[in-house]
Amino acid sequence: MKRQVHIVGARPNFMKAAPVVAAAHELGDDPYLVHTGQHYDEALSDVFFRQLGLPEPDVDLGVGSGSHATQTAALMTALETTFVDLEPRKVVVYGDVNSTLAATLVAAKLHIPVAHVEAGLRSFDRTMPEEINRIVTDALATELFVTSPEGVGHLASEGVDPAGVHLVGNPMIDTLVRFRDRLDAAPVRRSLGIADDYGIVTLHRPANVDHADRARAIVSALADVANEITLVFPLHPRGRATLSEVGLMDVANLVVTEPLGYLDFMSLVAAARLAVTDSGGIQEETSILGVPCLTVRPNTERPITITHGTNQLVEPTEIAAAAHDAIATPHLPADIPLWDGNAGQRIAKILGGHGGSRQPPAASLQPHGW
Ligand code: UD1
Repeated sequence: MKRQVHIVGARPNFMKAAPVVAAAHELGDDPYLVHTGQHYDEALSDVFFRQLGLPEPDVDLGVGSGSHATQTAALMTALETTFVDLEPRKVVVYGDVNSTLAATLVAAKLHIPVAHVEAGLRSFDRTMPEEINRIVTDALATELFVTSPEGVGHLASEGVDPAGVHLVGNPMIDTLVRFRDRLDAAPVRRSLGIADDYGIVTLHRPANVDHADRARAIVSALADVANEITLVFPLHPRGRATLSEVGLMDVANLVVTEPLGYLDFMSLVAAARLAVTDSGGIQEETSILGVPCLTVRPNTERPITITHGTNQLVEPTEIAAAAHDAIATPHLPADIPLWDGNAGQRIAKILGGHGGSRQPPAASLQPHGW
């Protein structure tokens, strides 16, 4: 019987799991790591394991891509066999990707307790696959690790038992804190042939890159921004076809690259004049780094990055003006409570039953007039 089985599958899981798995090792809890293989490319998966020091997965299920139903079904089938074999005492899932949902459904039906890291986030937009995954995962999980206070409120309003809810901070920021001193944009800039004044772009959400009209509006806005500042765009495979079709590759002063590894990517982000993105994690990382972030979405499940950080929601037609203002305005790094580099340790302590306060002192929940 394995004590804790941690499930990772897609790129944003790896930065969240690394500090939790490392802390669980330090506590002697012998965490077991399952990679579902939802992301399987070197650039979306292997490089993160190497750079973040994640142990080789104990099992790699190699599930791969597909429609939501095909992928989720394949994930569930493979995970059921794995859980029946391993008899985990606890399954630990991360974030809001399809691997998170699949592992939660399978574990719950096998009566295995589920711990969800990054619980309680809500965009209130059920057209996002991630929102469905969050709601279902949080409804079934019995331990819920929350990054910021509004998440505690969302879980309370959905009737989640507060005894299982732990406000612990943000393990993705643990990874950033750990590597921050090693970030150096100069070699990456040299290899891309760009000067030191640039903005970084990432877009991969279905709502932005699956439909030509929306993608065209975004590319046209990026072309306007690129008149003012060089843009670097590490392109996720999901967006390649549609964005290329609407002319991304022809935009002057915009450099498209393959997806980058964690260190190269964060080095570029940390030294950028601005970020234009639809990623969840980048909204958080730019806030901590003090880099202005334009999020090309109508909503965010991470409002603390707007109220306490550097983030701003924009429509495609607003990108150029917002970018101009963002470049002209100095931004300070945000100081968000509990986003301090120690969330993984807090989570691992509670997961392993080593104590750890269920809720931090009330004072730490009330900064900045929250
Ligand atoms: C997934 C997550 C999303 C997360 C994103 C980060 C879900 C529902 N979505 O979206 O929340 O922000 O990861 O990257 O889980 N592909 C490759 N190589 C890979 C993996 C995927 O080429 O290693 C291509 C395939 O053509 C695939 C497409 O990317 O069909 C989408 O992959 P998928 O895992 O379904 O979702 P993402 O868009 O990556």
